[in-house]
Amino acid sequence: MHADGSVPVLAIDGPSGSGKGTISRLIAARLGWHLLDSGALYRAVAYAASTGGVDLADHDAVGRCAAHARIAFRDPGDGGETRVLVDGADASGEIRTETCGAAASAIAAIPAVRAALLDKQRRFRRPPGLVADGRDMGTVIFPDARPKVFLTASATERARRRYKQLKDKGLVITLDDLLREIEARDRRDAERAVAPLKPASDATVIDTTGMPVEAVVAKILALLPGH
Ligand code: C5P
Repeated sequence: MHADGSVPVLAIDGPSGSGKGTISRLIAARLGWHLLDSGALYRAVAYAASTGGVDLADHDAVGRCAAHARIAFRDPGDGGETRVLVDGADASGEIRTETCGAAASAIAAIPAVRAALLDKQRRFRRPPGLVADGRDMGTVIFPDARPKVFLTASATERARRRYKQLKDKGLVITLDDLLREIEARDRRDAERAVAPLKPASDATVIDTTGMPVEAVVAKILALLPGH
């Protein structure tokens, strides 16, 4: 807890494959803080819309879906991966596919979707602290987060990391297709009118290309006051 009574937030933003997910999880566990995987919320909305037969081009309908979908995170308690429930059903596997990632990136550009998820995200801020992983954690959702970190890595390195993750999960995709998909997603995320992907003016930018995970974790922990 900060001296003024507010709950500390560490914002970790960056493009897909920059290492955000892994690094945020490790740091949250190390600090004993809560974790917000905001990308999973956008993926869950995309999933809810698709399975509900909502046309993703119908922005009002997708916005309503974002407002009404019941999205919950459940810690299995055995050290395993957090489960994501959408309207009561476990969608953890489905939301991690590239198809769902691309749909998430498309619906993330809809202002009504971002508005519907604003409070949902801020409610994750609970003592003793929050590690917030996303694209606009430091710029829009938690502008008072300290510190703010923006992780990057070359597109080729990010594609290679995603390729390994997806292959480990048994999903079939070529490295070339993945690189093209990542570049298209970066472009969409950076060029959208609302909450575009960019470092906050007071963010520390860390290029993780070729950096071991532990080195990135240590660098971020060193930015935390009192650590
Ligand atoms: O991080 P992840 O790949 O799970 O995010 C999926 C998509 O959700 C991103 O491509 C991005 O378009 C969107 N997103 C966002 N704002 C966030 C988190 C994710 O727009 N805070």
